[in-house]
Amino acid sequence: MSTFIPRPPAHAALVVRSLPSASAEERQQILEDVEYNVFAFPAGLLTCDFLSDSGTSAMTDVQWAALMRGDESYGRNWGYYCLLDAFRDIFERGHNRHHIMERVLAGKTDVEFYQTKLLVSSQGGFVNGGRYQLERPNFFILPQGRCAETLLFSIMSSMIAEGYGSHPEHGKPTTIISNGFFDTTGANAAVAGFQLQTFTQPGLTDPFPSELIGVKNNFKGNLDLAATKLYLEGHPGKVSMILVTITNNWAAAQPVSMANIRGAAALARDYSIPLFLDACRFAENAYFIQKYEDGYADKSIADIVQEMFSYAEGFTISLKKDGLANMGGVLCFRDQGMFAQRYEGIGMLLKERQILCYGNDSYGGMSGRDLMAASAGLYQVTDQAYLCNRITQVQSFAQKLQANDIAVLSPPGGHAVYLDMDHFFFGCNRKLEDFAAVGFTLELIKKYGIRAAEAGPFGWAYDLKPVEERAKIPNLVRFAVPRHVYSDEHIDYTVAAIKDLYERRHTVPNAVITRGKHMKLRHFSAGLKPVPVDQAITDSFLGEASRQLGHLSTAVGQDAAAGEELTKALALVAGDWGKTPVPAQLDSTGWISGVSNDGSAVEYSVSIDQASGKAELRFLTEAQPKDNSWEHLVQAALRANKDIEKCYPSISLERFDAIRDLFLTPSPPRDVKLAAWHSCAFSASEGPQWKIYLDPSAAGEEKATQTAREAFSRLGLESGWQLIEGILGPNDRVIYFSLDLASNKEEARVKVYIAHGGGDATSRAVVAEVAQKHASICPDADAFEIQRFFAAMAGGEFGGENKSSGRKSLISCFAFSGKTGERPVGTVHFPVDAYVADDAEVKRRVDRYLVDVGASVAARGRYAMVLAAAQRRPLCEGRGIHAWVSLKQGAGGKRENTLYLCPEMFGPRGPF
Ligand code: F0G
Repeated sequence: MSTFIPRPPAHAALVVRSLPSASAEERQQILEDVEYNVFAFPAGLLTCDFLSDSGTSAMTDVQWAALMRGDESYGRNWGYYCLLDAFRDIFERGHNRHHIMERVLAGKTDVEFYQTKLLVSSQGGFVNGGRYQLERPNFFILPQGRCAETLLFSIMSSMIAEGYGSHPEHGKPTTIISNGFFDTTGANAAVAGFQLQTFTQPGLTDPFPSELIGVKNNFKGNLDLAATKLYLEGHPGKVSMILVTITNNWAAAQPVSMANIRGAAALARDYSIPLFLDACRFAENAYFIQKYEDGYADKSIADIVQEMFSYAEGFTISLKKDGLANMGGVLCFRDQGMFAQRYEGIGMLLKERQILCYGNDSYGGMSGRDLMAASAGLYQVTDQAYLCNRITQVQSFAQKLQANDIAVLSPPGGHAVYLDMDHFFFGCNRKLEDFAAVGFTLELIKKYGIRAAEAGPFGWAYDLKPVEERAKIPNLVRFAVPRHVYSDEHIDYTVAAIKDLYERRHTVPNAVITRGKHMKLRHFSAGLKPVPVDQAITDSFLGEASRQLGHLSTAVGQDAAAGEELTKALALVAGDWGKTPVPAQLDSTGWISGVSNDGSAVEYSVSIDQASGKAELRFLTEAQPKDNSWEHLVQAALRANKDIEKCYPSISLERFDAIRDLFLTPSPPRDVKLAAWHSCAFSASEGPQWKIYLDPSAAGEEKATQTAREAFSRLGLESGWQLIEGILGPNDRVIYFSLDLASNKEEARVKVYIAHGGGDATSRAVVAEVAQKHASICPDADAFEIQRFFAAMAGGEFGGENKSSGRKSLISCFAFSGKTGERPVGTVHFPVDAYVADDAEVKRRVDRYLVDVGASVAARGRYAMVLAAAQRRPLCEGRGIHAWVSLKQGAGGKRENTLYLCPEMFGPRGPF
């Protein structure tokens, strides 16, 4: 294989700034001082600051050179001319740029240059020149983007009030439609009296296949053209503008396609409405079009930008983003275009207000130096290599997070990565009004000196909104990446920090608002406080198990109804006992159930298909006895049987009754493990599937084989049993017997479980023998696959000696049914909890195994979700969440792994 060569770097850092070395304790002090408001935290004490990409860019050396050439004269400094012509070059001339500013930079600006280049009259575009800019001004410099918005919307609104704008109902407030208003844009329009309609193409949060990141893009930032059209139809004459934001910052920095801009322009034309662009991140948007939209791969960024803006009547832009500048904004509109005609004379009114509020038209509040820096920045920001580096950096940031099971809104957008906080805190019992995402941002600052911004229930005032509006509020944290500032080193540090907090997510504090709950844009000014989360279980056994089943149901992709069915089924077996509160510690004087590792009377298991990632959720439980006696245990099991039979018509106890006396004997040995356990799975198509587990040692351990033989015989499975006896060696013990309680005899399975002694589960000899036994009687078993599975679960290390260390043994399960015929389906079980220091190690082994066997991305993602649903503590804090991992090999190469998960109601077990 040839060596992988990454893309060549696009820039080098020639000026550097040292970063502070504050400690977590010091940052904690400062957080207290600033009332835990992340916006108020001093930037100088941070290591990485992802609060905004706005005005935070590192300028290029060319921009600094331009800045040095800044002219601070009050009227018509040369930066003014440079910016005007840079706008013509970038937004109108495509690849036929004039690059006038190069002469200015070189200091070669004689009279002839002024007369032939800078003062030339031009008209008809976004930037009138010479006397036309005086007669019909259409280009306005401002300190930043929001000033352009204020100017535009306030003057439009006052003109509409006076009857401009061709609205049938003069003076009435009208509507602006957008694919997504940035906060200030929406607020400025609303303050000016406009109604806002946001029509973002549906599906923003839909999952996106991770393998297609960097390959495809579905332009989730698009304007929903159908919804827009519908609205326009229903509200004739009521819409003043369509404003398309590129990229769509409101919708997680997602790009807008050229087809969509074109479609918006056509709609706008049909309904005689001006189309404006909020063009803050136009260059990033152009790069997405070039890379992902059909027909644009061969076009230059310059030409793509030209086409994008050819559809617009005007635009606002903050030069703090894709101007690569630290300040600046512009409003411009097409000279003599539809907008200019409709609002005749608006240019002069805008200019008057500009001068009144910001400064004369030569600078509009920008210094001459900043005008020069922004002019140079506009050229540099459209550079192909720069854009590629920029978008790839954000993309790889997102991919590195995904590789660590941290969900981000996908595909990643242009300037920021958005963490999906619903996913982050999945299974952690956080309500949206707990503001856990704020707690996360506070921890990130405290522990690692990294700042990000919550864009969720706190920022969007979830707690103050009517219920019907709450559902629309996203739950995200934004990491906006400043341009040219951070290297892979910063990104890797940040990914590691987020990963650490993800692993410790159960302990990340919530937050409460201590001051300013009702303030507008409260995230800038409110006081907050972190609130530690109480980890103790305060519910009943059933309440707690139902909660975990609910999370697991979501993780396996079941609908809510299926999850509820499972909870109902568990409640049925649990009976009154289920209502007992979970004690802080296991009561060792009562009956201790063996279904799960920690003595909880329930264990969950999830099987995952390696190819499709499809999963099935089950629980295993034991009806608890009133008293710690065999008699009560049997009574409880039979009561559960009856209740199940009563409740589920598809259940039959006929086969159980035929063998019952073999297992529920009057006088079992003293150390009997169980009378009966029950398990249940639920699927929409098949309904509930119940199984009962029985103990073949109930009539004495020495009779276990004989008991199982007799049970098989009574169920008409003699030949099946002969296969089993054929492989039983001196170290093999029959430990469980189980039976499907289905009335359909073809489908109903009988299973026998064999523990393989003679060496522990990492014994090479035992492993080889078990694999060989399966291969000899199960038609679909592959000995290599079994050995590979065991090796992976053992962490790649087989013990050399064929001796038992006293740790748990490997278990095999053989399942017979009418459908499978005489030969069984085999499953091998590895007792993973007994061979690791903690669950993080199990996860590493399972992850590596799934990759090695070529399991699908869906299967790997499913496992991560399932584990997240079950765990209530960091994986590295102990062992015991994973009890067993199994491999089942079915017909046609179908392979499933099942995770047996302990509810850990009484905390984890420590390392050995
Ligand atoms: N429009 C969009 C799409 C923006 O993202 C912003 C600013 C503005 C307008 C306003 O421009 O800041 O120069 O007044 N967005 C920044 C951000 C603040 O962090 O996303 P401004």
